[in-house]
Amino acid sequence: MKTIHIITASTSGNTEFVADTVSRHITKIAPDIEIEMQKAELAKPEDLLRGDVVILGSGTWNTGGSEGQLNMHMDALLKIRSKDVQLAGKPITFISLGDERYYFRTRCTEHFLRFQREHGGKLFVPPLIIVNEPYGQEEKIEKWAEKLHSTMTAMTTAGQS
Ligand SMILES: Cc1cc2nc3c(=O)[nH]c(=O)nc-3n(C[C@H](O)[C@H](O)[C@H](O)COP(=O)(O)O)c2cc1C
Repeated sequence: MKTIHIITASTSGNTEFVADTVSRHITKIAPDIEIEMQKAELAKPEDLLRGDVVILGSGTWNTGGSEGQLNMHMDALLKIRSKDVQLAGKPITFISLGDERYYFRTRCTEHFLRFQREHGGKLFVPPLIIVNEPYGQEEKIEKWAEKLHSTMTAMTTAGQS
């Protein structure tokens, strides 16, 4: 397990910041891991199968007019373009953002988990959920990145035995 593919949808840059922080920290603790970043608006269904593991990141938005949805670019990728994709056990996890001022706080996590379940992905670590501005929450983000890395190492070992 040496490669990570990260796909993000970010309107004001918060999700992008969290994904960059994860990427930087993994590169620091495991320089041999290759990380590829992609914007959801440019991603194709087959990109969900890239890398040894895939991470999808999105803020919670009012896509389609009601709150508690995925960012519009992630929504279009998962619910329209990738509606027929088979993840076939692909290790996947998520970065979800939201704000405590909203009733459907970080509800995009539920859309992500439903996608994973319905398309046969394997949730290999619990999602990283960031409420409010991510700036100042770097320690939490880095801890999650460490968990992600140690799980990848454990999966590699299990695959070899
Ligand atoms: C129009 C709009 C709708 C939003 N709806 C929600 C929501 O329903 N639930 C929530 O927790 N946060 C909601 N948010 C907050 C964003 O998810 C949060 O600011 C997030 O950090 C944005 O990430 P981004 O900059 O990567 O797009 C909303 C923000 C805006 C501007």
